[in-house]
Order: sequence, then C-alpha cells, then structure tokens
Amino acid sequence: MEALAGLRRPNVTVPLAQTIAQQYFGVSAVEVTELGSNQDRNFLLMEASGNRTVLKIDNAAFALAEIEAQNEVMNTCVSAGVSVAQVLRNADGSLVRTVFDADGVEHFARRFQFVPGTSLLDAHFLSAVMMQQVGSLTGEVSAALTKFTHPGLERASQWDMRRAADIADSLLGSIADGRRRERVRAAIKAARIALTQVGELPVQAVHGDVTDDNIMWGGPQNSSQLTVLDFGDVSTGWRVAELAVTLSSLLQHAAERPLDVLVAARAFHQKQALTSAEVSALWPLVVLRACVLVTSGAKQLELEADNDYAAERIEGEWRIFEEATRYPLDVMRAATRAALHVQITETETAADAAKAATSTKPAKEPQVESGPFSFPKKKRFKALEGSLLQSPVALHRVDLGAESVWMDDGAWLREGAEEQFIREAFSFVGQPGESGIYLPYALERLTRSRINSAEAPKTIPFGIEAYFTQRTKVFAPFDGEISVPAPTLAKRDEQQVVLTASDGSRLVLTGLVKLPQPGPVSAGDPLGRVASSDSQQLNRVRILWVSSRATSRIPFFGGDELAPAYEQLTIDPAPLLGLPREEERPDAAVEQDRRNRVFSSAQERYYVDPPEFERGWKHHLIDTNGRAYVDLVNNVAGLGHSHPRITAAAEQQLRLLNTNSRFLYRQLAEYSERLIEKAPNSLDTVLLVNSGTEAVDLALRLAWAATGRKTIISLREAYHGWSIGADAVTTSAYDNPNAVGSRPDWVHVADVPNPFRGKHTGPDAETYYATELADTLKQLDAQGKPVAGFICESVLGNAGGVLLPEGYLREVYAKVRGAGGLCIADEVQVGFGRMGQGFWGFNQQGVRPDIITIAKSMGNGFPIGGVITTRAIAESLGNEGMFFSSAGGSPLSCAVGLAVLDAMDEDKILENVANVGGYFKDRLEMLMAKHPLIGFVHGAGLYLGVELVRDRETLEPAKEETMEVCERMLHLGVIIQPTSERQNVLKIKPPLCIDRESVDFVVEALDQVLSEVVATFAPAHA
Ligand SMILES: Cc1ncc(COP(=O)(O)O)c(C=O)c1O
Repeated sequence: MEALAGLRRPNVTVPLAQTIAQQYFGVSAVEVTELGSNQDRNFLLMEASGNRTVLKIDNAAFALAEIEAQNEVMNTCVSAGVSVAQVLRNADGSLVRTVFDADGVEHFARRFQFVPGTSLLDAHFLSAVMMQQVGSLTGEVSAALTKFTHPGLERASQWDMRRAADIADSLLGSIADGRRRERVRAAIKAARIALTQVGELPVQAVHGDVTDDNIMWGGPQNSSQLTVLDFGDVSTGWRVAELAVTLSSLLQHAAERPLDVLVAARAFHQKQALTSAEVSALWPLVVLRACVLVTSGAKQLELEADNDYAAERIEGEWRIFEEATRYPLDVMRAATRAALHVQITETETAADAAKAATSTKPAKEPQVESGPFSFPKKKRFKALEGSLLQSPVALHRVDLGAESVWMDDGAWLREGAEEQFIREAFSFVGQPGESGIYLPYALERLTRSRINSAEAPKTIPFGIEAYFTQRTKVFAPFDGEISVPAPTLAKRDEQQVVLTASDGSRLVLTGLVKLPQPGPVSAGDPLGRVASSDSQQLNRVRILWVSSRATSRIPFFGGDELAPAYEQLTIDPAPLLGLPREEERPDAAVEQDRRNRVFSSAQERYYVDPPEFERGWKHHLIDTNGRAYVDLVNNVAGLGHSHPRITAAAEQQLRLLNTNSRFLYRQLAEYSERLIEKAPNSLDTVLLVNSGTEAVDLALRLAWAATGRKTIISLREAYHGWSIGADAVTTSAYDNPNAVGSRPDWVHVADVPNPFRGKHTGPDAETYYATELADTLKQLDAQGKPVAGFICESVLGNAGGVLLPEGYLREVYAKVRGAGGLCIADEVQVGFGRMGQGFWGFNQQGVRPDIITIAKSMGNGFPIGGVITTRAIAESLGNEGMFFSSAGGSPLSCAVGLAVLDAMDEDKILENVANVGGYFKDRLEMLMAKHPLIGFVHGAGLYLGVELVRDRETLEPAKEETMEVCERMLHLGVIIQPTSERQNVLKIKPPLCIDRESVDFVVEALDQVLSEVVATFAPAHA
C-alpha cells in the first residue's frame, strides 16, 4: 500500500515554485518562501503589490476527484460560516492546475488565500478559553459536513482513523528506540481492544486534520479569530475521529494535564452532539492518533532524513503520545464520560448497571441528618446477603467535607485534624456492643487539603472508611474469588484482601486480619476481622468497590483532576454496610449550567471553567473538592473570609433584635460614632445604606442638595456603581463601552491622571491636570452649569490601584471648592486600611474630602454602605424630605460594622497591610525586572496592580496575555483577575490578613506563569 510507505513530497524548489506561479497562475512573486508540509509543498508568494497568497503543489498521490472534494468541502464550510482559508479561482474560473516537478512528475496545484497570524502549534500553553474555542471550531466543521458527500471522499488515507491501529502497527518497525516501540505497541493493543467494546460509530465527511498546525490564530490582538487551513486530508471517516485528532494536537499545549483538553471535547459536543459509543471511543482514538503520529513521523524520517519539518515535529509528537497515555485508558474514558456528562449505555456489567441506576435515580429522601456527625434515620439493615456484616452495626456518618460545620474557623488546618475529628466522633459513639463511624464515599475531606499549594491535594476518597468499636467480623457480601496481594509496605494497615465477583467488579478491603485463603468463596463466608491500625490504634477498614470497567489500579484517595473518572470507575459500598448511598452532588459544570439558566448573561462571572466555592477562610477560597486557592480578589472580605468575630456578632444580634433606623437602639449611635472617629475632624455626620452604589447615589444627591447645583465632574476610567446615578458617573469603557459619549448632561468627564499611561506623565502632571480642570470649571460656569461636586476614587482602584500624581487631589480639591463645588472621595474600595497609610485612601494625598462614600470591607462581606459628611451638608437633605433606608443602619448592620472595626484593631490589620503590602510590592517589582511583559507595578498597601504590556515603549496593553495569566494561575491555586478598562492589569486586592507565605507562593506561581504565557504568545509577537 503506497500510503503505508509514506509519501515523498513533490520535488519543487523555491525557484521552481516561482516559475510555476508565473507560468500557471500568472502571479509574479517577488518573494517566495517555503512553508512546511508533511507530504505536499506549500509556498508563500509575495507580489510586488504586497499581496500574499499560498501556492500548494499537491502530492502526486492525489486524484483530481479528491482535490475537487477538498475544494467543495471548503465551500461548504464557508457557507456554514466557518472560517477557512479558501482556495482561489484562477482567471479562467478554474481552481486547479496541472504542473510538473523537477523530476517531471505531474501534480495538481492550487492557490489559497493567505491567512495572517500564527499557527496555534507555536503557542506553548493554551488556556481553557483557547481550548474551548478550538473544540467549538472543530465541532462547527463537523456540523457543516454532516450531510456532505462527494465521490472524492472515498480514498485510502494513511490518516483514516478507522485504519489507525493497523497503520500504526505496520509502521512500528520505524521506531528505532526499542523501549518506546514497545510502549507504542502496548498502547495500540489497548486502544484496539477498547474500540471493539464500543458500539457502531457514525461515519461522515471529515476534515481529518483540524489540529494546532492547521489552525491559524489572529494572535493576541484578535485571539478569538481562528481559521482552519489545509483540507488535504478530507475523506469519509468516523465523525468522532475529527475530535480525537484535534484533542491529540491540543495535548501538546496542556502543561502535563491531559484532562484539560476535555474542555474542547465539551465545546465540540455542544456543536455536534456525540453518541455514547462515540464518547467511549474518543480517548482510545486520541491514543491511536498519537501512535499514528509517532510511527509515521519515524517512517518519514527513515525515508527522508533531510525532512527538517518532520524532524522538528517528532518531539512534539512524542509529547502527544506521552500525554495521551499519561493515565490508563479506562481512567481517561471515564474522565471523558464525566466531562461530557454522558451516561454509559453500552453493554454493562451488573455492577455498572447498579451504579448507573443509582446515579440516575432522582434524589431520595435524605436518609441521614445533615451536619458533620449524624445518625441514619432509618436503619435499613438487611440480613446477611449483600452485607459485609453479620448483624446490623450502628455506624454514624462523619462529614469532614468543605461544607461541614466541623471545618469552621479553620479547624481543618490544625495539625492532625483528621485524626482528632475521627477520635472525637468515635468518642461520641460510646454505645455498648458493636457500633462505629464511617467517612462516606466520594465526600471530600477538607482535613487533607493544603494551603499555598500549586497541586490539587488528594482529598477525595473513592471508598468508605469505617471505624468500629470492636474487632468486627467481616463477611463476603457476594460469591466470588479471593486474592490476597502482598502488601507494598510491611504495615498491617496496608494488607488487602480482594473479592472479585463474577461480573468482574472487585471489592478491595484494607485493614483486616485473619484473612481467608485465596480461592472461591460464597456470600456469607468470613473475610477477616477489622483490626486496629498501627498508626491510629483504632479498628479501621477501608472498603473500595471497583467497577469491572476499571482495569487499572484505583487509589483510595485522589485529587480533583481524576476524581470524576475514579468516581465513574468505583461504586459506593454503603449498601454493603446497610447504609444509604451518598447522594450524588452536581459538579461545578452542572452548577454553572444551572446558574446560566436562571441568570442574565450581562451578569459577570469569572473563568471559563470555574471551580465551585462553598467555603472561605482568611485569604483562601475552598472549592467543593477541598482545594484551597489564595484569594487575591475579594476585597469585600477585608478582614478575611468567615471571620469568627463577625460571625459571632451577626449571630448574636439576630438572636436579639433586627429592625430599622426609625427605632431607637444603642448600636446605631455607637457605630456612627466609631465611624466618625475614623474620619477627618469636620466630618461629623453619618448616613447608613447597604452598598457602595447606594452610598455614591446618596453622595451625589447630597452634593446637589447642598449646592443647589447639578453638575458633577467624574474622571475617565472610573467605576462607581450600577444605579442610574452611580452609573452616570461611571466612565470605564469596560463597564460601558459607550461611557464617555453617553453621559447625561449633568455629568462632565475629566481626563484621568494616570501617571503610567495618561496624557501627562511628567513630574508636574498634577498641575497639568489641575489646570485643565480649572479651565473646565470656568467653561461650565460660563455655560450656566456650575459644578455641584467632583467625585473620584482616592486611588484609581478600577484602573488597578493606580496612585494619583502626588498633590493632584490637593490642587483639584482647591479648584473645585473655589468654584463652589464639593469634593467626594469614593473610598468604597480603597478605604478601611487597604492602602497601608492610615485608614483612608485619601491619606495618600493628604487631603480632606467633604463627602466620603464607604461600603465593601466595611461589613466584611455583609452588605453595609455609608456616607460620612459634615452636618451642614447632611442637613441639606432635609430640604428634600426625609431619608430612610430599610436595612441601612439596622441593628444587625451596626453590630457587624462594629465587629469589623474591633477586629481590625484586634488583628492589627493596618500593621499587616503596611508590612505584607510593602513586601508584596517589592517582590512584584523584582518580577518586573525579570519579565518585560510587566510594564509597571501600581499601588500601595494591599491594593496592587500588575500592568502587562506588549512593549514598554508603546505600552500596548497585553489584554489577552492577562486573561491567560489569570486562567493559568487558577490551575496553580491562585485567584486573580484582570482589571482596568483595557483589562490588562492583574488586580491584587486580597483580604487584608494575607501573609508573607501566601505572597511568596503567589509570586512564584506568577513567575512561572509569566514565562509560560510569554512562550505561548512570543511567536505571535515576533
Ligand atoms: C469605587 C467603587 N465605588 C462604588 C462601587 C459600588 O459598590 P457596590 O458594588 O457595593 O454597589 C464599587 C464597586 O465595585 C467601587 O469599586
């Protein structure tokens, strides 16, 4: 078979290509550059006009019908709106020419549109966003070709995945390295077997090569622009193979986390739904594609040692092979099913059927009380049959999960926490006779989590751990075959006994003594006794029930990446102990769908594939797998998440009273006094509301009421809230693309004094801006629109913690007051100690505003907002009627607010901000010396902004790179997000309790990610 021997590329040199272009296509190319190809020849033709096209000399192996099929496939894709590099029509209307190479061999030749940009192959790391886009694109190609037929599609191709196992096998001999050859041989064999177990796979027209190499990317400026090139492999084939080919190419870009490419599979599945059989076939096909790549690459090099293109690619192809086979096939198939939320429908074993049935059943009446330690309501003990126990044993459920109340107040971080909780739970049991506790199947154990860790901890058990008060006897719950593997360690704790059922499922029990002899047993035969473990001195057994689908070893604990796969491959053994099965919890993707169905798309959400957070502690967020992330974003939880003092204050007040400020109660005055103590002397009156938006709205009303004027000046790039009033002074193009042009006539927008990229950046910048503002004030006066107020953040928070030029507010406030206006400092983000220089952001500028707006960290997550101003200004509101806000200043809000102020002192928050903030900024500045991508480190205290630029001269914002950094940092356990209207500043505004250990962890992660992102984008920058 010619295809199997590998195809020699046409013998066409650059000068010959130039001649062909001229003779056959009438194109006078002034510059011809060869582009890579495995089997054809591609040349970039540049004409004197600058027009660029691609000349393709097809391999002589192609028949005309095949070439025509390719052309029609391209047209079909274009009609379906898929972006492809189109074949160009010649002057006479034809698409194809016949040409001769240097050996006189006849070839077809065509000219194509040149697509500027870079090949995705050159990108180092692809984030979830990019992978999703690629999967979606492949899905669109596949969907466009669903009904396409053409005689030219029926061709024998080396790349037809239906023949992949045979082709790879036949080329195996070309792999010189014996060890590698054997690994490939084994992988082919395993994938071949796996494919025989899936059902019928649908066949249709396929592009066959939608890979990183054949996708052009618009580069950072146009990152969502992806174009498919090279239709040279179109043929009929398995529909799912289209996706398998794409996924295998993405494996090179997945930073040793092969499961990350499944986000592309999910995107494909949304465009072109796969059958259950296709989902099962997907990973075996990914493996086979990798095998074909490495074997064909080896063969090509054997044929043409001078094929630099093939030589260069072979290492990447081996990387694909390594990633495709990093985890066993059964695990990857299960992971694929879990990622696509596709149930198993092929031939199932009894155990799988049992698992599938329970997993699709509607949620049952909960059998146990909620809470960390609860008792089954119904004791549904069966007799011997199907049970590990001879008689019922009262086993109490112990929940050490992320949402368990036992984990409150950071208890999970205590040294030896898990064992302590187990002992504590055990001590409660204290019943005479046999009883005990159990830690449920697939319920994460937060006690196994770690903070400041780039790797996901192994928190999820795939079986049950049960502790008994006595050395309970355990029996075979079903007939089967016993085996007793030799323990890996000499510890008795590790000793296992395995009971294999006739359906192939395996019950693995660890921690028994008095084990039976290997061989057949019947239900009810003894399997041993639960023994006290060496380490804990408690009678403990681990019960792992592995489905017959699992061919590889399943660990007892795993991390978030593989957990969905292991959960597919194991069965909850609860019924074997007479316990109810654990209720299945929807994963984060399901939760995301649920949210999308009920929430507006205008509502912002972080991340493409967000983790689900259900707990926070200090400056850490904990997801439902028990993974802890350092939180650099939640400035609202100023003191730290779940602060015990705040929780206690809120709880206590809710027990006592919660009403509104029309009534008389002590906390209102007490809290207001405490706030006034923090404010400059003349500001002696407080108005309490519930949010920053309300505070800003109220501040604007106060300025109007006090001055009898309407005009408000706000700065460009600002965010002040969402209500009609607060939004009117919000000018950030990110929050409102038409911001500047669409302000109501009472808002005047002044230029933002951004010292990094503003109009004036020199030493006297403040005077320039202040002079400009003075002119504006005069003009407004002349137009009969005198200023009522000037509003700005005391540090440009929304721009990324950008510090105002020194003296700016002093000069501007003086000018505004001179014109009869009031000065409003929006301290919603930068107040409450965040800037590290006293309590207020305006301390940076040494000024005293007339009105201060506060919210966010004021309530540490509880909704409180307020305005602090002078009595005279506040009184002016009375002229407009009474002011009242139902929950503003309620006893509850005041109790929380007071607790926040107390805790700030108690936790020495201001000292921490000065100490850790300074350290953080120093370390980031050191990173800036290493990474040219960092244009500047803004901010002070714990409001910092790392501005990423493509060029330190032009300051071109590195928006896409910033997004990539954020996605990648998530993988490493850090929550960070872009800000500014250019979305190119990494905003760093963590809870103020962050410590140096976490700062070190974050800076090291950022260092690594910046290098990776630069490697991803560098080809695009070149
Ligand atoms: C400076 C500033 N002002 C006002 C607001 C609005 O606050 P809230 O979201 O509490 O309404 C925000 C919110 O991000 C803000 O950053």
